[in-house]
Amino acid sequence: MKILVIGSGAREHALVRSLKRDDGVEVICAPGNAGIALDVVTHSVDQVNADSVVALAQTVAADLVVIGPEAPLVAGVADALRAAGIPTFGPSAAAARLEGSKAFAKDVMQSAGVPTARAHLCMALDDVDAALDEFGSPYVVKDDGLAAGKGVVVTTDRETARNHAQLCIEGRPGGAVVIEEYLDGPEVSLFAVTDGVTVIALSPAQDFKRVFDDDEGPNTGGMGAYSPLPWAPVTLVSEVIDDVLQPTVDEMARRGTPFSGLLYAGLALTSRGTRVIEFNARFGDPETQVVLARLASPLSSLLFASATETLSSHPALEWKDSSAITVVMAAEGYPDAPQSGAVITGLVDHDTFDIFHAGTRRNDDGDFVVSGGRVLCVTASGSDLVDARRRVYEGVSQIHFAGEHHRTDIALKAALGEVNVP
Ligand code: AMP
Ligand code: GLY
Repeated sequence: MKILVIGSGAREHALVRSLKRDDGVEVICAPGNAGIALDVVTHSVDQVNADSVVALAQTVAADLVVIGPEAPLVAGVADALRAAGIPTFGPSAAAARLEGSKAFAKDVMQSAGVPTARAHLCMALDDVDAALDEFGSPYVVKDDGLAAGKGVVVTTDRETARNHAQLCIEGRPGGAVVIEEYLDGPEVSLFAVTDGVTVIALSPAQDFKRVFDDDEGPNTGGMGAYSPLPWAPVTLVSEVIDDVLQPTVDEMARRGTPFSGLLYAGLALTSRGTRVIEFNARFGDPETQVVLARLASPLSSLLFASATETLSSHPALEWKDSSAITVVMAAEGYPDAPQSGAVITGLVDHDTFDIFHAGTRRNDDGDFVVSGGRVLCVTASGSDLVDARRRVYEGVSQIHFAGEHHRTDIALKAALGEVNVP
């Protein structure tokens, strides 16, 4: 089977490596990045241009296309591939609105009876003021459009909250902002593979959104992740399938826009029960790096079964009995103003950790240089989180570039048994 992976981040690098391990699978990636190009053949492509992705898939005779990021999905690339008769892992543009519009996701959750934060969609500052008063501090203010995890401000400062709301409303024509109640409790990222009918959940992970240790600083796309979650209730996955994932998939089918691909539920385990923070329509980055590190079943069969609507006959997934951690090494200035160009040293393959590339390219001398905010994801497995932390940070310590920064506390509280569900 020939699989074309679309995307250029560490998530796609992890997908490529996992798919490549399966028997009888050839993997191609477009556009990929400098690290992915070490593992498989890469092609350039305009990934949000449906015609160019379809043309490439036909040229390489792909049996399956796996779309990594949200932008091609929202742009209808999966629709175009399916229309051309190519099995595709990833939802239609209509279904990807679950990620592309917070307001749409809230509407689906309300119809499906899925528990989430109470929220108001505001188009004017008067409505913003009323909503901020109603919910009180801490304030949660979300851009209604796609923002790669960076459009959300959570703050106890009313002025900061109001200013962000104003930016969202005035930033583009028809701009809108969602103001919602604050959810206490630890966050969980739970991924499900679905073909629009059947739902198969993967192993839960936790992501670290803030840029600095102890959850300080602004939100990012994610600075690290680990899986599994030793502190999570044993019934978590089955409850989320019953209360969140299956009802959402059923509601999307009822609306005539079935969701096929990866449904990512971002959850908060609050004192009042599990609540959905957000949906994404694709694998999470960097959570995928740790979830796939633990998956023992072939990934290619799972994604192909989603694309061909045969998940109901797919065998139950098997998981390794290990813990996995990934740590993001970020560029100077990330997330506000990442600086490109620094030369990266120490990129040597090792038995005890994997290096997934995100924002890297080769310069004229062949050196790897920084070309994005999140640069590398160092990923390691161990017998438990303490062991995995030792291995992953040993990996991080061997890689260097000017201005590099990373969190030192990924999975630390979980390893110490200090994560509590209220
Ligand atoms: P989102 O893009 O909706 O996932 O939000 C990004 C991050 O903001 C989440 O992962 C949470 O850390 C935080 N966040 C979003 N909504 C809430 C909420 N209602 N209460 C508390 N934190 C939130
Ligand atoms: N790690 C968060 C996301 O992929 O949206």
